[in-house]
Amino acid sequence: MIQKYVFGNPFDTEAVVKEIPEEPIGEGGIPHLTMADGNVFSYRMDDGDVIYGLGENVRGINKRGWLYISRCTDDSHHQEDKHSLYAAHNFFIVDGRERFGVFVDTPGRVSFDLGYTDRRMLTVTVEAGGFVLYILEDDSLREMVRQFRKLTGRSYIPPKWAFGYCQSRWSYETADEVREVVRRHRENHVPLDSVCLDIDYMERFKDFTVDEEKFPDFPEFVKEMGEQNIHLVPIIDAGVKVEEGYPVYEEGVKNGYFCRREDGSEFVCGVWPGRVHFPDMLNPDARRWFGDWYRVLLDQGIEGFWNDMNEPAMFYEEGHLEEVLDEVEKFKGTNIGIYEFFDWQKLVESVHNNPGDYEKFYHQTPAGRIRHDKVHNLFGYNMTRAAGEAFERLSPDRRILMYSRSSYIGMHRYGGIWTGDNYSWWSHLLMNLQMLPGLNMCGFLYTGADLGGFGSDTTEDLLLRWLELGIFTPLMRNHSALRSRRQEYYQFGSEDDFRNIIGLRYGLLPYIYSEFMKAALTDDMMFMPLAFVYPEDSEAAGVEDQLMAGESIMIAPVYKQNAAGRYVYLPEEMKLYRMRSVTDMDTEVLPAGHHYVKAALNEVLVFLRPDHIVPMSCGGESVADVEGSKLRLLHFVKNQAVYDLYDDDGYSRNTDLEKSLTGITVDRDGTVKVNGEFAADRVLTI
Ligand code: GLC
Repeated sequence: MIQKYVFGNPFDTEAVVKEIPEEPIGEGGIPHLTMADGNVFSYRMDDGDVIYGLGENVRGINKRGWLYISRCTDDSHHQEDKHSLYAAHNFFIVDGRERFGVFVDTPGRVSFDLGYTDRRMLTVTVEAGGFVLYILEDDSLREMVRQFRKLTGRSYIPPKWAFGYCQSRWSYETADEVREVVRRHRENHVPLDSVCLDIDYMERFKDFTVDEEKFPDFPEFVKEMGEQNIHLVPIIDAGVKVEEGYPVYEEGVKNGYFCRREDGSEFVCGVWPGRVHFPDMLNPDARRWFGDWYRVLLDQGIEGFWNDMNEPAMFYEEGHLEEVLDEVEKFKGTNIGIYEFFDWQKLVESVHNNPGDYEKFYHQTPAGRIRHDKVHNLFGYNMTRAAGEAFERLSPDRRILMYSRSSYIGMHRYGGIWTGDNYSWWSHLLMNLQMLPGLNMCGFLYTGADLGGFGSDTTEDLLLRWLELGIFTPLMRNHSALRSRRQEYYQFGSEDDFRNIIGLRYGLLPYIYSEFMKAALTDDMMFMPLAFVYPEDSEAAGVEDQLMAGESIMIAPVYKQNAAGRYVYLPEEMKLYRMRSVTDMDTEVLPAGHHYVKAALNEVLVFLRPDHIVPMSCGGESVADVEGSKLRLLHFVKNQAVYDLYDDDGYSRNTDLEKSLTGITVDRDGTVKVNGEFAADRVLTI
């Protein structure tokens, strides 16, 4: 059941696609919640209550005990003291004495005090403007999420090649450098499907241009890569360079498609290209115009993109920069005391993404002119929507890969997300795992973190362990920052281990793709906290470092340096596969309960549920190589194990769930049937 309550005169975020009638805010108020005033509501929590959701955020699977603020922020320091990351995902579920979900649909800043001020109180404050509140109820957590996802529409589906391994780096500066990356993978048979092009492929960071000197004859280069089953994935940034003669800039100015100041002049700030304008992503005409520009690269053979800096990030705004420079000047020649020094430091830092600068420009929306800060959380969403809608027009038959940094619920219909600039820290490996269920709840199924860590220097063991989680995430991308230690597999010694671990992703591809597609087409989750599958198990709700990954398995990656294994909680008897490669694994049946399980640096732990199957392939060096017709089945049969395998051509937009499913059964005596027929020649059981 979903109930809808409208407060004030909310801006339509278009997050919700389903019409549902509005409830009066009557005498009884809103079920479960106490209203303090028009935009603050609270709930008194029971000691055992758990809170799931809020998508992209720091801290654990259970979100209780911290203050989260929805305000899309370009902040690369994802430590646990942060309140906001790049996204605003305002959906959560309280599970305990009562079980209900809450979606706060509003484009501005919202704070979620989940037992931070008072351990027992949950308080949500919508800081400005009207909002729509949705309250969901269901006996099952998973069903409640499904209802929410039906409300907000089907999740984005990328092409199948986007489930292959991606090697990325800020930046591969030339075509030859990219060729070298590809050569090192292909020569040593380490699988690879794509290479990202970061900002340096552009001509002086101008969107929809290619630097002809560093990437000569780009269409030919794209083709050459394509012949090796490699897709190039260029980045697109939110800011458009201010430069006479640059057509994107000139057209935008001519048509009034950029965000403006109060006096009507175009708003200027500084990002990679220097002075930029922001396209008015909330103006449908500007959105269509910006989206059409992707054609320039689609026409050169590109089939995937990533949208960046779309919170939108600002390095500086000239007016504020001047003020800061004036203030800084005053310190010159003075004897700076330590507190003044701290103030000075703060002042200098305030140049970057200064909240006041977001009040200096306006959008021309269908609901009229509106100041940016009031609709801030919708910018990245609408940039990606611009692209997603354009792809439907420009590539009506083939899916195009798209993932964004900033997002709001609703954007999940147009693209996936990567979780931004993490660090090469073990704690960020764990954070990657802990974020996945919340992201799935909010509709973001195509997602992944920068494997190995983006900022700072990675180590070989961290990269290996992180890849051991990354083989399960739909987006599997190794990405790192300029000036950090290089982290392509060949920077380290254990070539065989990297080949085998990355190879496992290709072995698991039939399962990963099936689980992703079934989740997308039935509005389900792919990664779930244990309590979503074992609601009666009181210990399951406290597990913070294991996940159910699809319907058949539980994953429990090692996330501590030098650990030879880890403690794992099994809610039921399971069959452990300790995998070293597609063909090298040992198995052991473990009873329900707590175990210490060994996992060497080159081993992945997969826990298979009773009467379940994991269909694997024999591997491949690219997704196109993976043969769907020969399967290796992991199975744990008590009575009969059943699996619905999904497969399709990997690119058509029109997907038909029923027609794409193959039913597989394994009986207790080992008999395997595919769609009811004996299939000994097609499958090998393991
Ligand atoms: C941002 C992105 C990062 C990218 C860099 C340069 O920090 O989050 O992924 O490499 O910009 O474009």
